[in-house]
Amino acid sequence: MIKLLIFAFLSLPLFAQDVRTERHLEAVDAFKNMQFFYKGRGMAISPDLIKLYDTMSRQGVGVQNLGPIYQRWGLIFEKNQAKGIFSVPYEGMQVGVLGCIACHSGKAAGEYIVGLGNKNIDVGQIGKDAYLGMKVWGAMPRANPAFKEVHERSLAFTKGLSDKSMANMTQGLVPTSLIRSWFYKVQNIPFPENTPRGQVKVPHLWGYGEKRKSGSFWDGEGNGELGGWGIAVELYAGQTPENVREYFERVHKAENYLGEFLPPNYPFKIDKLKAEKGQKIFATTCQGCHGVHNRDQFDHPIYEATKHIPLRIVKTDPDRLNSLTEELYKLIEINPLNDVIQSVRKKEPGYVAQKLWGIWSRFPYLHNASVPTLYDLLIDPLQRPKSFSLKNAGEKERFDEVKMGLTEASVKNETSRRLYDTSRVGHSNQGHYFESFKLLSHDNRLDLLEYLKTL
Ligand code: HEC
Ligand code: HEC
Repeated sequence: MIKLLIFAFLSLPLFAQDVRTERHLEAVDAFKNMQFFYKGRGMAISPDLIKLYDTMSRQGVGVQNLGPIYQRWGLIFEKNQAKGIFSVPYEGMQVGVLGCIACHSGKAAGEYIVGLGNKNIDVGQIGKDAYLGMKVWGAMPRANPAFKEVHERSLAFTKGLSDKSMANMTQGLVPTSLIRSWFYKVQNIPFPENTPRGQVKVPHLWGYGEKRKSGSFWDGEGNGELGGWGIAVELYAGQTPENVREYFERVHKAENYLGEFLPPNYPFKIDKLKAEKGQKIFATTCQGCHGVHNRDQFDHPIYEATKHIPLRIVKTDPDRLNSLTEELYKLIEINPLNDVIQSVRKKEPGYVAQKLWGIWSRFPYLHNASVPTLYDLLIDPLQRPKSFSLKNAGEKERFDEVKMGLTEASVKNETSRRLYDTSRVGHSNQGHYFESFKLLSHDNRLDLLEYLKTL
């Protein structure tokens, strides 16, 4: 018996291999290729139009890194390939399909990171340009009847993306109004005019496995354990609830992958002594809401559930929460996929205090991406930058190692979609400034930033 115990003890380290790195790599690989175009429906553009893009990228015309399309649409290019754009065969045609990583992968300080939100994605501009292009493209008669069907749906999808009353006004923001409009459409109820756009930045996905238990999305109102919300964007793009049921297992599996992601390590130097001082300040000033950030024996994060903080306390921009109307809650309750798409209604509206793993890469900060650096998030909102440029936001030359986030860049002559203007509706940089922050000195803040680099 004792021998057996000793044997079991000795073999413990064997079991405790670094499986998390393996799982992370597996998850990244699976997510990279993920798209849910099914039975001719989903986030697609007109059939065969993608061939044009294929030719362009083979010849390197206009799609090279930092080329015009990169700037205009905010898509990430690597080796002349746009991340998250797939060419999928369907009924003898090639259909261009938008996958998850068009939004759910991005760059920070020049590094490409799967699971980080794309800081420049501009679905409003993509929709507008693609719609116009497809109008011309579709004018020619086609023999294949499937062409017309997919083409019409792609037109509707891209027209919706570019709808002036709903679309994002700034790069890097995605309007949640689009998703909400689906709940009205399936019931044949007109989408109310002047409903908030609810523009948000694309959230990071590492730690989602624990986060989802206390509610999906920035507002924590989606039941994340059922897994149906992940496919809402496909439904908006014209997928049918019946089809979703047929491939739901795949969606569920995909969402489980997201729980395996590890955060990106800070790529530059960290001052250990300062970080230790910062950790102490964090414990008294931030931990109450953001929680502890412990690591396992392999130095990987131990993910924990997140806290939901009422708007009354955090006081950041309310636009995203203003869309949570009684009518919407009712429509969610009766939606045709209400066994897997449900809300978890909070006592009062608020935002999730996300864990801060990999926070160095997640700028601009807050749910509406309104604060360009971590330093600015720790000072009085009245002193935060009122506007900033999003040009090349993920490139190395735009990374500020001192303030942690976007460097200041000239905003003169910046095109309006790349100019973040905090005076716009839903773009306010207010709030997240608590009594305890007022006691912090400049050096305290720098120590805090040093600690945040270690997460
Ligand atoms: C057009 C850009 C876009 C695409 C494409 C997209 N997402 Fe998202 N995703 C978002 C945005 C924006 C949010 C945050 C919405 C909010 O919180 O209000 C989000 C949130 C999520 C969340 C919740 C994260 C959290 O912290 O609670 C999951 C899970 C998710 N998306 C999965 C997916 C999957 C799987 C796909 C591919 C089928 C996908 N997304 C495609 C933009 C996108
Ligand atoms: C009273 C609760 C509370 C305290 C205290 C608090 N935070 Fe937050 N924090 C939040 C909430 C809620 C959000 C989300 C707000 C939003 O997105 O509008 C947030 C967001 C953030 C973000 C942005 C995350 C992202 O992905 O953009 C950072 C960074 C952050 N907090 C850091 C800190 C630091 C550092 C401290 C301590 C100096 C701190 N917070 C103290 C509640 C709090």
